[in-house]
Amino acid sequence: MKSRWTLPIITLAILIRSAAFAVDIPDVTFKTREVGTVIFSHKFHIKQKGLKDNCKSCHKAIYDLRKKVPFTMADMKKGKSCGACHDGKKAFGIAQCVRCHPAGNVIFKVKETGPVLFRHDNHLAIYACRSCHTKLYEAGPNKRTTMAQMEKGKSCGACHNGKNAFSAGECIKCHPVKEIEFKIKEVGNVTFSHTAHTGMYPCGECHDKLYLPSSGNKRISMSDMEKGKSCGACHDAGSAFTVKENCDKCHKM
Ligand code: HEC
Ligand code: HEC
Ligand code: HEC
Ligand code: HEC
Ligand code: HEC
Ligand code: HEC
Ligand code: HEC
Ligand code: HEC
Ligand code: HEC
Repeated sequence: MKSRWTLPIITLAILIRSAAFAVDIPDVTFKTREVGTVIFSHKFHIKQKGLKDNCKSCHKAIYDLRKKVPFTMADMKKGKSCGACHDGKKAFGIAQCVRCHPAGNVIFKVKETGPVLFRHDNHLAIYACRSCHTKLYEAGPNKRTTMAQMEKGKSCGACHNGKNAFSAGECIKCHPVKEIEFKIKEVGNVTFSHTAHTGMYPCGECHDKLYLPSSGNKRISMSDMEKGKSCGACHDAGSAFTVKENCDKCHKM
C-alpha cells in the first residue's frame, strides 16, 4: 500500500530516530564501473562542523531521496553532489581522487611465478586514473593477460616496453625472487641463489618444470639429483658442475 505519504513518514521516522542515534544512519555505497566503489559515510559527515545533526544541509538541498540520480564527476566539478562541498575550500577538492575512490595495492596471483604486486600509489605519482581505466583495465576482475600478450602491448606491457618504463623482459622487477635456504642437518645448509640463476635462465626453465614457485615442493635426495632431478637437471657436469662431487660448492660445511 503506497501513498504519497509513505516516504515522508519513513523520512520523519528516520529523522526522529537519528536525532537520538545520529550515528545509526547507514553508509551509502556508490558503484562505478571504471574506478570501483565509493563509500559515503553519514556518521563522519554529520559530525562535521556546520553539518552537525543537520540532515537538511544535504537533504534535500543536494540529494532528493525520492528521485535518486547518478552524478558524473563533471557534474561534481560544477558543484553538484559531493562537489557542493568538496571544492578545495569547504572540504578537500575533487582532484584528490583516491580519498573517495580507494586505489590500493593489487596482487596478481600467478601460479608459475608467485604473486605480482601492482602499486597504485607509485603509478599515480605519474598517471591519472584515465591513463589505465578503462582503456587497459576495468576496476574489477579483468580477463587474465599472458606475458606474450604483454609483449604485444597489452596490460602492463602498454607502458613496460623499455621506452615509457622498464621492459617486460626484466622479470624480477615485477616477479620478485628471494634467495632460498635448504636446511640439511647432515651436511650443512644449501643456499640457492635466484639472482645468480635468473641471470642465466628464464623462470620457465625451472617453474613449473622442476619446482612450484612455493616452499611446498617435495624434498629431493642426492641420489635422485644424480638421476637428473632438481639441481641435478643441470648440475650434471654438462651445463654446470656436477652433484656427484663439489659437495662444498653447495653445502656450507
Ligand atoms: C553531507 C551530506 C549528507 C548529510 C549531512 C546527510 N546525508 Fe543522508 N545521504 C547523503 C547521500 C549522498 C545519500 C545518497 C543519495 C543517493 O543515493 O542519491 C544519502 C542517503 C540517505 C538515505 C537513504 C539511504 C539509502 O541507503 O538509500 C537516508 C535514509 C538518509 N540519507 C538519511 C539522512 C539523515 C537522517 C541525515 C541527518 C541525520 C542525513 N541523511 C544527513 C548525504 C547526506
Ligand atoms: C568527494 C569524493 C570524490 C572525489 C574526490 C572523486 N570522486 Fe569520482 N565519484 C564519486 C562518487 C560518489 C561517484 C558516484 C556518483 C554517482 O553515482 O552518483 C563518482 C564517480 C566517478 C566516476 C564514474 C562517473 C563518471 O563521471 O564517469 C569516475 C570515472 C570517477 N568518479 C573518477 C574520478 C576521478 C578521476 C577523480 C579525481 C580527479 C574523482 N573521481 C574524484 C566521488 C568522488
Ligand atoms: C555538505 C557538505 C559535504 C557534502 C555534500 C559532501 N561532503 Fe564529504 N566532507 C565534508 C567535510 C566538511 C569533510 C571534512 C573536511 C575534509 O576532510 O576536507 C568531508 C570529508 C569527506 C571524506 C573524508 C572522510 C574521512 O574519513 O577522512 C570523504 C571520503 C568524503 N567527505 C566523501 C564524500 C562523498 C563521496 C560525497 C558525495 C557522495 C561527499 N563527501 C559529500 C563535507 C561534505
Ligand atoms: C598505471 C595504471 C593504473 C592507474 C593510473 C590507475 N589504476 Fe586502478 N588498477 C590498475 C590495475 C593494473 C588494476 C588491477 C586490475 C585487475 O585486477 O585485473 C587496477 C584496479 C583498480 C581497482 C580495483 C581494485 C581491486 O582491489 O581489485 C580500483 C578501485 C582502481 N583500480 C581505482 C583506480 C583509481 C581511482 C585510479 C586513479 C586515482 C586508478 N585506479 C589509477 C591500474 C591502474
Ligand atoms: C600507463 C603506463 C603503465 C602501466 C599500464 C603500468 N606501469 Fe608500471 N610503471 C610505469 C612507469 C612510468 C614506472 C616508473 C618508471 C620505471 O620504473 O621504469 C612504473 C614502475 C613500475 C614498478 C616499479 C615501481 C614500483 O611500483 O614498485 C613496478 C614494479 C611496476 N611498474 C609494475 C607494473 C605492473 C605489474 C603493471 C601491470 C599490472 C604495470 N606496472 C602497469 C608505467 C606503467
Ligand atoms: C611489468 C611487470 C612484469 C614484468 C616485467 C614481467 N611480468 Fe610476468 N606477469 C606480470 C603480471 C601482472 C602477470 C599476471 C597477469 C594477469 O594475471 O593478468 C604476469 C604473469 C606471468 C606469467 C603467467 C602468465 C603467462 O604468461 O603464462 C608468467 C609465466 C610470467 N609472468 C613470467 C614472466 C617472465 C619469465 C618475465 C620476464 C621475461 C616476466 N614475467 C616479466 C607482470 C610482469
Ligand atoms: C635455476 C632454477 C630456477 C629459476 C631459473 C627460477 N627459480 Fe624460482 N625457485 C627455484 C628453486 C630451487 C626454488 C625453491 C623450491 C623449494 O623451496 O622447494 C624456487 C622458489 C621460488 C619461489 C618460492 C619462494 C618461497 O617463498 O619459498 C618463487 C616465488 C619463485 N621461485 C619465483 C621465481 C621467478 C619469478 C623466477 C624468474 C624470475 C624464478 N623463480 C626462476 C629455482 C628457480
Ligand atoms: C636450469 C639449470 C640449473 C638448475 C636447475 C640449477 N642450477 Fe645451479 N647453476 C647452473 C649454471 C649454468 C651455473 C653456472 C655454471 C657453473 O657454475 O658451473 C650454476 C651455478 C650454481 C652455483 C654457483 C654460483 C653461485 O650461486 O654461487 C651454485 C652454488 C648453484 N648453481 C647451486 C644450485 C642449487 C643448490 C640448485 C638446486 C636447488 C641449482 N643450482 C639448480 C644451472 C642450474
Ligand atoms: C648443486 C648443489 C649441490 C651439490 C653439488 C651437492 N648437493 Fe647435496 N643437496 C643439495 C640440495 C639443494 C639438497 C636439499 C634438497 C631438497 O631438500 O630437496 C641437498 C641434500 C643433501 C643431503 C640430504 C638428502 C639426502 O640425499 O640424504 C645430503 C646428505 C647431501 N645433500 C650430501 C651431499 C654430498 C655428500 C655431496 C657431494 C658428493 C652433495 N650433497 C652435493 C645441493 C647440492
